[in-house]
Amino acid sequence: MAAEIIDGKAFAAGLRSRVAAGVAALKEAHGLVPGLAVVLVGEDPASQVYVRNKGRQTLECGMQSFEHRLPADAAETEILDIVARLNADPQVHGILVQLPLPAHVDAGKVINAIDPAKDVDGFHISNAGLLATGQKAMVPCTPLGCLMMLRDRLGSLSGKHAVVIGRSNIVGKPMAALLLRESCTVTIVHSRTVGIEALCRQADILVAAVGRPEMVTADWVKPGATVIDVGINRIDAGEGRTRLVGDVAFASVSAVAGALSPVPGGVGPMTIACLLANTLTACARVHG
Ligand code: GUN
Repeated sequence: MAAEIIDGKAFAAGLRSRVAAGVAALKEAHGLVPGLAVVLVGEDPASQVYVRNKGRQTLECGMQSFEHRLPADAAETEILDIVARLNADPQVHGILVQLPLPAHVDAGKVINAIDPAKDVDGFHISNAGLLATGQKAMVPCTPLGCLMMLRDRLGSLSGKHAVVIGRSNIVGKPMAALLLRESCTVTIVHSRTVGIEALCRQADILVAAVGRPEMVTADWVKPGATVIDVGINRIDAGEGRTRLVGDVAFASVSAVAGALSPVPGGVGPMTIACLLANTLTACARVHG
């Protein structure tokens, strides 16, 4: 039987409208307007698209949007100065420094200069540590979106075997921490794992976040499993065209899985919606 397709676009639209309602309520009750500041360094085309979409959606849900654009050769001190100003600005409740940063900039230093209370990406070492130790943290947006979709489909995740493919600080590790918090049995597999297919085949929940186009094929998937595809890979489609695909071979896996998130239209739209939700949370905390 064909897998149920998890519609991230519709789910994200629902989340955005709940965020908009929260923003309106905060304004009404306390006169507070959440503000999200984005810092973009350089001209990376994918980053430009992300930042444009973030700005538009921030305004659409009633928040303030601030953008700081710097040239690719901007000095690290210049970026740190902007972060310091945003940390001190009471109109700014969330700060996002778009990654990747140019090679001459120490991204870790910049991220860890953000006030953890305004770190709506959840990348600051304090938030990573809080999440890893099961405490209240600002949670990275992509894994948070994945978790919301999993909870919506499966209800309780307790006792399920979750396999996360990929060990990045942005997706793999926080995803594993969140699934552990939900009382899943969690396995992380990666490029050096021996017997990766057999481990993936044990998964009730399979989250693919490796950045390898269509790596997960039907023989990696237990029949009926819920599969979340975090990959966004642009591949050559011939005749000078490109095509967006995930880390999961959609056509073959959809014949085996119980549910599957597509690319595009799965996890992607959830990431920005979760960013807005985190910004609302950060603003609401200001009022205690
Ligand atoms: N670049 C691509 N995705 C992201 C994201 O979620 N946050 C930041 N800061 N940079 C990104």
